[in-house]
Amino acid sequence: MKHLIAPSLLSADFANLQRDIEMINGSEADWFHVDVMDGMFVPNISFGFPVIKAIKKHATKPLDVHIMVENPDRYLQQFKEAGADILTVHYEACTHLHRTVQAIKALGMKAGVALNPHTPVNSLIDIIEDLDLVLIMSVNPGFGGQKFIENTYHKIPVLKDIIRATKSNALIEVDGGVDLNNYKKLIESGANVLVAGNTVFSSSNPVQTIATLKKQE
Ligand code: DX5
Ligand code: ZN
Repeated sequence: MKHLIAPSLLSADFANLQRDIEMINGSEADWFHVDVMDGMFVPNISFGFPVIKAIKKHATKPLDVHIMVENPDRYLQQFKEAGADILTVHYEACTHLHRTVQAIKALGMKAGVALNPHTPVNSLIDIIEDLDLVLIMSVNPGFGGQKFIENTYHKIPVLKDIIRATKSNALIEVDGGVDLNNYKKLIESGANVLVAGNTVFSSSNPVQTIATLKKQE
């Protein structure tokens, strides 16, 4: 399949959110990446349900909601109501991950699991068949605009092998520090979805930058 691009709204201009959403609507981007941070699981707070609802009102593409939140079971229903299409929880934040994943799917959302840079991809071997998406963090979560961690290149093929061996349908998403220098290598390594925040929103022509990130070669 052709890879997907999910611009992260964390780097959008929050005072002009509708304008930035419409820019993405009119671009070649596939999803909206929506980063929710609770100030506990990660050392930063981003935004919550009212903002997600406002995004949903204008977005014409799926909301890929990445929640960097401790004990996310408390909020699954509210994320559904706010408009999440894909809901990704952190492996490190879920004691009963299997239960959480089933609950996300029962609410009618696609279920993703995110892995911090230090968490091995084979931690997912016993749940991979239930997942729609695995998000490999290529920076430590909490902030946009950080430097890409090179070890990510080793994790993608290992995950790909697990997905193949188990006949899982999970997509591999890479999140953090994706730029115009590394996106091709990430696609070649087996990434299906690339998140890009700073690279898109700090560029002088975001629509063109998204089109470049969509190019295969
Ligand atoms: C980091 C978030 C990322 C972030 C990516 O905690 O999960 O989605 O917004 O931003 P860039 O592309 O700027 O690294
Ligand atoms: Zn993210």
